[in-house]
Amino acid sequence: MSRLVVISNRVAVPTADAAGNQGGLAVALLSALRENGGIWFGWSGETTPEFTGDIRTTQGGGVTTATIDLEEQDIDEYYNGYANRTLWPLFHYRIDLTEFERDFEGGYRRVNERFADTVMPLVEDDDLVWVHDYHLIPLGRELRRRGMKNRLGFFLHTPWPPARLLTSLPSHHKLVESMFAYDVVGFHTEDWLDSFRRYVVDIMGGTIDEDGCATVGDRTVRTIVAPIGIDTAEFEAAAASPEARFAHDRMHMSSTGRSLIVGVDRLDYSKGLRERLLGYERFLANNPDRRALVYLLQIAPPSRADVDTYQEIRSDLDALSGRINGEYADIDWVPIRYVNRGYPRSELAGIYRAARIALVTPLRDGMNLVAKEYVAAQDPEDPGVLILSSFAGAAAQLKEAVLINPYSAEDMADAITAALEMPRAERIRRWQAMIENVRAEDVFWWCRLFLDALEGREVVGDTAQIG
Ligand code: ADP
Ligand code: F6P
Repeated sequence: MSRLVVISNRVAVPTADAAGNQGGLAVALLSALRENGGIWFGWSGETTPEFTGDIRTTQGGGVTTATIDLEEQDIDEYYNGYANRTLWPLFHYRIDLTEFERDFEGGYRRVNERFADTVMPLVEDDDLVWVHDYHLIPLGRELRRRGMKNRLGFFLHTPWPPARLLTSLPSHHKLVESMFAYDVVGFHTEDWLDSFRRYVVDIMGGTIDEDGCATVGDRTVRTIVAPIGIDTAEFEAAAASPEARFAHDRMHMSSTGRSLIVGVDRLDYSKGLRERLLGYERFLANNPDRRALVYLLQIAPPSRADVDTYQEIRSDLDALSGRINGEYADIDWVPIRYVNRGYPRSELAGIYRAARIALVTPLRDGMNLVAKEYVAAQDPEDPGVLILSSFAGAAAQLKEAVLINPYSAEDMADAITAALEMPRAERIRRWQAMIENVRAEDVFWWCRLFLDALEGREVVGDTAQIG
């Protein structure tokens, strides 16, 4: 079996139970690398006065990590700039928040070149090289320019926006052209894949063949759908652990018979947190007799705190949760517990299991792993209800969730009422359909699906098939 070299902006510390906001990509890749063996290369999260290209390696939990420090200017222009002020909002359909600065683009190019220079000597001839996410779209082209002949794959963990939106990016052509340096490019859903293909056909004048190969001029890239999953077995076990039990009991003891509604998200405007609180407020307003029978626990660890749109969403939510609590709280009850910190995964599993309802209501999301974790953590005899945005990639697989439009406070309020009233038999039926999918299409399945396509094994139509 070929060794795997994973390259992503962030490299997670390889411990199974790291507390905190690791992000979906990090959590998934740790599991995948443990299974395949290889190296995970990326930014250390540290800055250095001057870029040296020195590589720091660590080994643990079956995973070797190799990281580099970046300069302050790199972080400003590449991570806080092009990645998170330009591409992230644009890819999440938020052109109103998208900033177009040439310096950002320059920093993005420079860091991708630095990644290419430093990772090149670590790669052996037969390695499969797998690049992840919007931070590193042009890395494949930089690696090819430096003579890399390996099989080279790219996976996008965000949505791919419609061509009409993408063309507002001044250098959209160059960005998409660079994706043709890869052998395989993967997306989480048919929707994101279709948008990519439409761009290739409508804007680049390219073609798509029946195997999903996109061709422009003399370059071809295979395009596939491979929806990411979670390490379901690990998460189900975590939900049954003593730590989970402890967190579960703690939630119950502090709520004296009230139904817990939970939300767990990075503090990001794409997650629809504002709209969620407004939807919950609508439920409180519409249901005076039910008010004190529920409470919302919103866990939202801060994210990308140097970017002003993230500072704004944070102060918006501070104000909104304060206002709703001020208006509705009583001496023995607060409607919202709003918590800005990370939790170890087993505790998180216990919290999910204690929750009668999960609100997973992003305005747009590449996939959303929290939805799958919530399903995996449920008690099969008495599962809770997942209320899921139809604009999350996960909605394509978790069709038995209560699917809602997250922009509508009324939809959200009605969905909460329906979930609270849902008979146990219906909750079990819906959960069984969802857990079947979460177990079958887990992170290992996803990884094999993509790597089989990358190794050139059989790919039929749009979705890579396991041979
Ligand atoms: P994204 O990748 O945009 O952050 P996902 O929902 O796909 O969104 O993944 C988020 C991941 O981060 C999940 O695995 C979730 O469990 C984890 N996570 C989010 N918030 C916390 C938290 N407060 N404590 C621990 N883990 C968290
Ligand atoms: O899953 C999307 C993603 O952007 C990952 O690439 C990233 O690691 C995660 O969210 C968390 O974001 P950040 O690395 O900026 O903290």
